[in-house]
Amino acid sequence: MTEILDGEALAAEVREGLVAAIERLADAGARPTLATVLMSEDPASETYVSMKQDDCAEVGIEARDIEIDPDAPAGELYDTVDDLNADPEVNGVLVQMPVPDHVDKRRVLRRIDPAKDVDGFHPENVGRLVAGDARFKPCTPHGIQKLLAEAGVDPEGKDAVVVGRSDIVGKPMANLLMQKTEGGNATVTVCHSRTDDLAAKTRGADILVAAAGAPGMIDGDMLSEGAVVVDVGVNRVDADTEKGYELVGDVDFESAREKARAITPVPGGVGPMTRAMLLYNTVKATAQDAGVDVDLP
Ligand code: GUN
Repeated sequence: MTEILDGEALAAEVREGLVAAIERLADAGARPTLATVLMSEDPASETYVSMKQDDCAEVGIEARDIEIDPDAPAGELYDTVDDLNADPEVNGVLVQMPVPDHVDKRRVLRRIDPAKDVDGFHPENVGRLVAGDARFKPCTPHGIQKLLAEAGVDPEGKDAVVVGRSDIVGKPMANLLMQKTEGGNATVTVCHSRTDDLAAKTRGADILVAAAGAPGMIDGDMLSEGAVVVDVGVNRVDADTEKGYELVGDVDFESAREKARAITPVPGGVGPMTRAMLLYNTVKATAQDAGVDVDLP
């Protein structure tokens, strides 16, 4: 039987654990606050940000919702980040990516106070992750680590193949899987759009993380029997539904589940865990700011 890794259920457990931590912070007079900044009219980005806002409300994190006209000068976004950095009531700052082309993405990421960088994308935080001293683990790879642990999948000594080399998922995922700590110790291969004979690499995977943003690119033929398959893809494809589209992953679920020992569904696998780990990082940032020790789930 192929195990379906239920991200919704595990995310609910993480949120429950965070509520306890948030209560402890409240006793110490600290209320976690996350500011999200959206400079885009992309419907998917709007949906992600509004889900993050709803998640905050559910666990008792104060959410600030800042929207900037995508045609506004880049300086407006830089100034907004400066203001949030300077605001002692704000613990976490997230600028939803992608930003418009006239905005220098790297400049934005460098500008966020590393202590408030709950995405973990600031170069200082990337460096700390690579050095094995993470302040904030990026939300998607961290959520995947938790999903694997919950399923009893220990990456130690396993061949892990990450398909995709993005700053948000592929690179930090590969780093976490190779680290000399619990949840790591895998032998990691990173594949991408220029990889020759992708199927030969993916067939060698005990653990496959698909994060290429290409609908259905990994099918059952490209997997070995018994692989653990983690699908990060969230692709909108045209469909005869009320919304006119449906969400599909980077993995062809039906053929992959024939081979896999365990697999994440889309939706309901990685996505909810990403959102839960953003709340986790916000609570962690608040505890660090307040100098309060809290147990994190
Ligand atoms: N765009 C897609 N995923 C993410 C994410 O995890 N954080 C931010 N800030 N933007 C994103």
